Amino acid sequence: MSIVYLNGEYVPAEEATVSVEDRGFLFADGIYEVVRLYHGCVFELEAHLQRWARSAEGARLPLRNTLTELPTIFQRLVQENNLLDAEIYVQYTRGVAHPRTHAFPTEVHPTLLAMPVPLHLPPPEAYTQGLRTIALPDLRWQRCDIKSTMLLPNVMAKQQAREQGAFEAILVRDGVVKEGASTNILAVFEGQLATHPLDHSILGGITRQAVLGLAEELGIPVREKPFTLEQVYSAQELFLSSTTSEVLPLTRIDGRPVGAGRPGPVTLRLYEAFQKLTAKL
Ligand code: PDD
Repeated sequence: MSIVYLNGEYVPAEEATVSVEDRGFLFADGIYEVVRLYHGCVFELEAHLQRWARSAEGARLPLRNTLTELPTIFQRLVQENNLLDAEIYVQYTRGVAHPRTHAFPTEVHPTLLAMPVPLHLPPPEAYTQGLRTIALPDLRWQRCDIKSTMLLPNVMAKQQAREQGAFEAILVRDGVVKEGASTNILAVFEGQLATHPLDHSILGGITRQAVLGLAEELGIPVREKPFTLEQVYSAQELFLSSTTSEVLPLTRIDGRPVGAGRPGPVTLRLYEAFQKLTAKL
């Protein structure tokens, strides 16, 4: 049983409980982060903390001391649980409020939880053969840049993808490819790497940013511009990026092959560069 952090205490997971009146439970009134540990080190800690601060600000949650506390909490969880390669999930809600009412309580006592999560990696053939994806309408709200725990549309899209034999759902709004249900989406058009620009309609992925940096180092031209689903049907390559899946080729969309139907050269170069980057931690 793992040791988790809850509101200032380190306790066995089965002893960590929150109230039924927690606004995270009742309203999904909270934010979260997922960090990845490589050999016990957090990948891109600073970038995760910056996104945490932006999410808190966007959700009007008081940051309190969380920016200085989180690195210490991560370290302690690594020690307590002997973590090497794992994830840590962190959630921050507007806390317990009574009676249940939508508007914020006058006094906010946020709930802070951090817990290790074992890695759930895609099978090795996913990297050699690529995975399937389907396009679905993006039914989410208009502040997808906030990493909110309010994930029902994402959960439903992912489930629909799985029921149709696909690994990920690509969310499309007004014909434009936004991102995956829990990943960012990148495509290669005529040798250029393209992905949706950062704005309120996507989550600014930490892995996305790392991949764009690697592309620049490798001399791969990058275009942060929106592209349509129609364009993706004729892309040479398609892949996703996320903390949990890293860089993962997508070789079929809506039943059609992407490019040659195999992981392409740009995807593979970026995948290898990403492996080298994380091996150095
Ligand atoms: N998901 N877009 C969405 C909607 C996401 O939920 C995620 C991450 C990403 C990729 O961001 P990053 O590279 O920082 O992991 C993009 C996390 C892993 C999750 O919900 O479990």
